[in-house]
Amino acid sequence: MKDRDLEKKLDSVQSRLYESQRVVVLTGAGISAESGMPTFRGKDGLWRRYRAEELATPEAFARDSKLVWEFYNWRRTLLQPLRPNPAHLALAQLERQIPQFTLITQNIDDLHRLAGSKNILELHGNIWRVRCTKCGKITEDRRVPLPELPLCSECQGLLRPDVVWFGESLDPEILRKAYQALDSCQMMLVIGTSGIVQPAASMGLHAKQAGAYVVEINLEPTPNSRFFDVSLLGKAGELVPRLVKSAENL
Ligand code: OAD
Repeated sequence: MKDRDLEKKLDSVQSRLYESQRVVVLTGAGISAESGMPTFRGKDGLWRRYRAEELATPEAFARDSKLVWEFYNWRRTLLQPLRPNPAHLALAQLERQIPQFTLITQNIDDLHRLAGSKNILELHGNIWRVRCTKCGKITEDRRVPLPELPLCSECQGLLRPDVVWFGESLDPEILRKAYQALDSCQMMLVIGTSGIVQPAASMGLHAKQAGAYVVEINLEPTPNSRFFDVSLLGKAGELVPRLVKSAENL
């Protein structure tokens, strides 16, 4: 009975998806879990073993840059072998089928790009980019590990990961594009995020209030589930591909 309910919900969400011209997808750590990346707040969550405020803040970097770089080098080592899973791949396929498709992600792991997604707004930056603390130059750097204290090739300033740390503001241009898409989308999928960290946490509600039909896909209900139109409970790697039509069925 339960499975039949889920199937019915999936069919109805799929129909709406393909009737939409403008779709926004918001993803969080849950979409990468099946690729092997620990999430932040689950039972094996990253921040349970490492206190975020000790490592992912500008203050921590000013106090002990070596320790912060050790943490990011460890995360780079974990991420390097990971590959996109069926949920990432299905979203890349969906983008090719929907006229206006925007993918907003809180993930810094680059797996959406590896899967083939194009129109990606990375709210929290990208772990494979570094930024010079002196001249501001941003470059892609995929070395694992990076030197203990990596330096800018232009000015010899200390590099930092090009990610957003606790207490820092998000890139205003990325936010502007995100809200533009949220304001005009007809349908939004909110996938694998606990809905706790702002501003991403309220983006689903924002789209809902602007008139979108909002669907949540998560292993479990979240504090936002009650605001959304549909909640699909299960693994992103199984549910997302089920929503996307193969080319021959279009
Ligand atoms: P969380 O770890 O807070 O939440 C992950 C969510 O994914 C939870 O709601 C899980 O139930 C769900 N989940 C886990 N596995 C799943 C699966 N296979 N399929 C579907 N859902 C699954 O991660 P985020 O919400 O992304 O910010 O965390 C938001 C931000 O908090 C991160 O970007 C990071 C962190 O602090 C910064 O570092 C600035």
